[in-house]
Amino acid sequence: MQRSHNAIQLTDLSPDHLSRLYAFPSSLDAPWVRANLVSSIDGAATSANLSGGLGTPADKTVFVLLRELADVILVGAGTARAEDYGGARTDPQRRRAFHEQGIGGHLDGAPPPIAVVTASAAIEPSARLFTDTEVPPLIITTATAPADRKRRLADAGAEVIEAGDVAVTPHRLVRALGARGLLRVLTEGGPHLFGELLEAELIDDLCLTTAPVLIGGAARRISLSAYEMRTQMARAHILLDDDGTILARWVRR
Ligand SMILES: NC(=O)c1ccc[n+]([C@@H]2O[C@H](COP(=O)([O-])OP(=O)(O)OC[C@H]3O[C@@H](n4cnc5c(N)ncnc54)[C@H](OP(=O)(O)O)[C@@H]3O)[C@@H](O)[C@H]2O)c1
Repeated sequence: MQRSHNAIQLTDLSPDHLSRLYAFPSSLDAPWVRANLVSSIDGAATSANLSGGLGTPADKTVFVLLRELADVILVGAGTARAEDYGGARTDPQRRRAFHEQGIGGHLDGAPPPIAVVTASAAIEPSARLFTDTEVPPLIITTATAPADRKRRLADAGAEVIEAGDVAVTPHRLVRALGARGLLRVLTEGGPHLFGELLEAELIDDLCLTTAPVLIGGAARRISLSAYEMRTQMARAHILLDDDGTILARWVRR
């Protein structure tokens, strides 16, 4: 993994250099779980209840790049519903090129599927997850989730995976992805799912955008969990954009 301990101006980086800064480890035999999240300076994970309210052009550039590198995009159902998730739109040429370089991407250039974690299976088959996507989603749910909902989601094309009894167990979730060859895992949150992955000590990598705004209010922060789990992280790089956006990559020690 390439590391730089100095802040780099985003505009000084070529697209190739930028993608190398975010490359997944080249030889993985188990899932590597990366989170990509955005926060305001004062720690809000949302503005007007959406993370999009914090987005900046630099955040968007890295958001797209991280999707192009990943094998699967993992989100909690709260985020899929709030942000009306559809399938990922990625550039097939870049996906193939990343695959050839061994840093991510996909052999055929196909986009990474969206995997949604849900205990309730309360997801509509008419949602964009199903109707606006090139590849079917994965629904990662529980044995006790209503069978009729699971059946409707499977009928709509999803692969429905049970990875827990009443709640999805983070370790079973990550194992289920690994068993399908989905080793480069990109989670885009939200705070509950990220907190649970953190609590289970499954987060390897955090790409955090700090948007140049103060929000105030009562917005939550990027991670929420029942217990504290102190995880020591090492700074891989910091990128700066002219509008004040800071893009940091932190890797578990
Ligand atoms: N700042 C950022 O980068 C960022 C990123 C993403 C989202 N957000 C924002 O965060 C908000 C959503 O936050 P959130 O924390 O409520 O969302 P979340 O973590 O995406 O979703 C929570 C839901 O995910 C399911 N879930 C999570 N862990 C589970 C487990 N172990 N087993 C079974 N199901 C599980 C449950 O779905 P069911 O209810 O279906 O059972 C739960 O209600 C939105 O406003 C969104 O815009 C911000």
